[in-house]
Amino acid sequence: MPKQIARGVTVTTLFVLTVIMVVKLTGVQTSISVAARNNQNSQTTPSQTEKPFDQAQALADLRKAIAGQESKPAGEVFKNIQMLKTMPAGRLLAVMERGFARSLGVTCTHCHVAGAWEKEDKPTKQIAREMWAMVSVINSDQLKNIKNLKGPNSIVNCTTCHRGQTKPALDLPETTSK
Ligand code: HEC
Ligand code: HEC
Repeated sequence: MPKQIARGVTVTTLFVLTVIMVVKLTGVQTSISVAARNNQNSQTTPSQTEKPFDQAQALADLRKAIAGQESKPAGEVFKNIQMLKTMPAGRLLAVMERGFARSLGVTCTHCHVAGAWEKEDKPTKQIAREMWAMVSVINSDQLKNIKNLKGPNSIVNCTTCHRGQTKPALDLPETTSK
């Protein structure tokens, strides 16, 4: 009899322990998935529910949208051109891609909210205008007046300073060879 009771107690204890463990594990799992869901929720900003920005696609869409008007002045084709008004519209897109994005090592979204190209959402867009003006002054007023330069047409552009970075370097990287 005592042996049977002991066995009964053991079995019951094991059963209870198992139930506790199952409950705990399910609990843990539920809280993990809740945490995961919360985590997802906290990261779900509008831009992240959309596809990541595809620059090639954006350019293809814009080229399609202005098809037939590539050589018209950008000021007539686009909505908010303040500076590059007389540049052909097709060329403006090339400047955006190679002159601006590539030379700074960024994509269009550094200066634009994708799709809202005419808006002034980001301060970098206005900075780019002022940089363009600075480059014009350097090229037309200053560089031009330096005598004895080798180039017949010495100019600087965005790449001259930026070289694929938003913040131009002030010093060369340390060389490893001494
Ligand atoms: C360094 C900042 C910068 C980057 C990067 C940039 N843009 Fe721009 N974008 C500008 C500025 C500045 C203007 C306005 C030019 C003006 O006022 O003359 C502009 C204007 C435009 C416009 C005209 C919108 C309208 O209707 O007025 C389009 C379209 C455009 N950009 C597309 C692009 C695309 C596509 C890319 C990426 C390949 C890109 N931009 C990258 C600064 C930038
Ligand atoms: C003479 C050198 C020089 C040239 C040429 C130049 N930049 Fe800059 N640019 C700078 C410096 C310096 C800064 C400031 C970097 C900093 O301290 O954050 C800057 C900053 C910027 C920024 C802000 C970057 C950021 O993310 O904060 C943009 C946008 C920019 N330049 C666009 C242009 C464009 C477009 C051109 C060509 C039209 C251009 N720059 C040409 C020197 C130059």
